[in-house]
Amino acid sequence: MFLMPEKTKKLYIETYGCAMNVSDSEIVASVMNGEGFTNVDNEQDADVIFLNTCAIRDGAEQKIWNRLRAIKAMRKQRPGMIVGVLGCMAERLKSKLLEEDRLVDVVAGPDAYRDLPNLIRQVEEGSKAMNVMLSLEETYSEITPVRLNSNGVSAFISIMRGCDNMCSFCVVPFTRGRERSRDPFSIVEEARQLLAEGIKEVTLLGQNVDSYLWFGGGPKKEFEKITNEQKAEAITFDKLLGMVADLSPELRVRFSTSHPKDITDAVLYKMLEYENICNYIHLPVQSGSSRVLDLMNRTYDRAWYESKVLRIRELIPECGITTDVISGFCTEAEEDHQQTMDIIQWGQFDFAFMYAYSERPGTLAARQYADDIPEEVKGRRLAEIVKLQNGISKQKHEQFLGKTCKVLVEGFSKRSKEDLKGRNDQNVIVVFPAQHYKPGDYVNVKIERATTTSLIGKVVE
Ligand code: SAM
Ligand code: SF4
Ligand code: F3S
Repeated sequence: MFLMPEKTKKLYIETYGCAMNVSDSEIVASVMNGEGFTNVDNEQDADVIFLNTCAIRDGAEQKIWNRLRAIKAMRKQRPGMIVGVLGCMAERLKSKLLEEDRLVDVVAGPDAYRDLPNLIRQVEEGSKAMNVMLSLEETYSEITPVRLNSNGVSAFISIMRGCDNMCSFCVVPFTRGRERSRDPFSIVEEARQLLAEGIKEVTLLGQNVDSYLWFGGGPKKEFEKITNEQKAEAITFDKLLGMVADLSPELRVRFSTSHPKDITDAVLYKMLEYENICNYIHLPVQSGSSRVLDLMNRTYDRAWYESKVLRIRELIPECGITTDVISGFCTEAEEDHQQTMDIIQWGQFDFAFMYAYSERPGTLAARQYADDIPEEVKGRRLAEIVKLQNGISKQKHEQFLGKTCKVLVEGFSKRSKEDLKGRNDQNVIVVFPAQHYKPGDYVNVKIERATTTSLIGKVVE
């Protein structure tokens, strides 16, 4: 008789960084559960603690070092406990993470999660263990993620891994390796299973979803060599969107991140065609200055970016658009900063993630340009950007006043168990009195109040 491994050991995973890491932690949980580990949500009870880390800015890494030191102190009472660092910081720093005694036992990069049980065994046998090999193929396609901290309503699905762009400020191509697309049929199957489990919203994830391409599993550079008939059958991102959206009109489909250089009309038309593909695009601009965009190696200039925003608004006027901005990139003059302020004013984005530039060792920018903007100047410019954007976010949200939004209920609001929260089509958080509604319901909410971050209203039948 086949016996499942006895579930005796306890695993605690803490996830930092972007949605991709959230999705990866679910792969890690699946791999470890297969080896007899159960997930716990409390570090005190854990036999193994994994920190799934981010390396995007120095601050993200400092947070992890502090956390590791705190765990080291706690470990004095738990000598058998194993501590692992996974994800982007593991990939970037490799064996440097193993140098300090009793700080870290296991280091595993984003493509090495199948090897985790083996790495844990090595530690149990008395040595430290590391696997930071990046892969050209790994997509974890056939691993069924174990949903951690799920709200039971929405879920992430990774459709690709890595990034082939070389934005000069960015560490991701080094920590996550080459871009690979995942088999579309495994993506649709994962969405189908989620739907069967009651999930009502999936977000398709990739660093650059518009460059998703599947033509039987070959590397992207082989695409040019295939016949025109084969090319016509290849699955591009717009087709994938349609395949997932076809599963059920009850399933909302979102996606992130779109790259201004690659987003196509085909994707916009697909959004128009399907009611259940949400009218929301995250389109990072990074800077309003074409000179800085060139140094950032974003491969578009300001006019190109603006033409993409105009096209989105022409085809889908109600589409929510959000962005990312970096202030204080190398050589950024006051005039460049003013151009960033100007594109924020022009773009009227619903929301923006705004950062001060943080030099990342090994990136193109770190090798080629001096990080020459003083921290206080970066900070001052960032504060100006945040102030401007917050005002715009509030105004944008005020445009919903008096309107009725279809909201997918996710759970209780942060502040009160009397209120529920969910998101509208444009991804804005909507809060309303709970009454008899529950997570997973679609409700129509008439908006009565708007803040910088959310909308408040009441359900109308
Ligand atoms: N792939 C997406 C893209 O192309 O926009 C997102 C990549 S990254 C995970 C998210 C955001 O972090 C970027 O859009 C950028 O604004 C910011 N970021 C990346 N590297 C940074 C750095 N060195 N300093 C400050 N912000 C950075
Ligand atoms: Fe980084 Fe650019 Fe790739 Fe985004 S597209 S992950 S910013 S290199
Ligand atoms: Fe994401 Fe941070 Fe890695 S933003 S891809 S976890 S460097």
